[in-house]
Amino acid sequence: MDKKLHELLNDQINKELYSAYLYLDFANYYTEQGLDGFANWYSIQAQEERDHALLFVKYLQNNGEKVTYEAIAKPDKTFKGLAEPLAAGLEHEKYVTSLINNIYSAAYDVKDFRAMQFLDWFIKEQGEEETNADGLCKKMELFGGDAKGLYALDAELGARVYSAPSLVL
Ligand code: FEO
Repeated sequence: MDKKLHELLNDQINKELYSAYLYLDFANYYTEQGLDGFANWYSIQAQEERDHALLFVKYLQNNGEKVTYEAIAKPDKTFKGLAEPLAAGLEHEKYVTSLINNIYSAAYDVKDFRAMQFLDWFIKEQGEEETNADGLCKKMELFGGDAKGLYALDAELGARVYSAPSLVL
């Protein structure tokens, strides 16, 4: 495997684990605020991010490439309002999309078609991640302004259940 591509794929393991850590921090914030449904949504999101990391691990291992785990950065955001984690989540997903696009570009440059096929799933997944994050921001803006709306939204997010990723390696 191309050296730069290998580095980017290995680095993405860390980025996905950081995403999991970040969303656990969001879940913790919402638990502190008494919004268990929002906390549930982000706890499940954290599980999905862990799954993403493990897909990158498996892909490297399946291709006989070394996996190196680096230190995970501390989530250091503080929030002044209930909508702030949602906006931060959307920004974070846009950033992750840029990372995936960058890896795809590196695979394209060296004609690594197998890596491109693997990354296709993440290209699509990032579209869904951004749509979901944007949807949360919009719902909060529309319904989060009064107690009844916030209660209903919390109940809706509390109903989210974990499902394993559709990509199996
Ligand atoms: Fe691993 Fe939220 O993208």
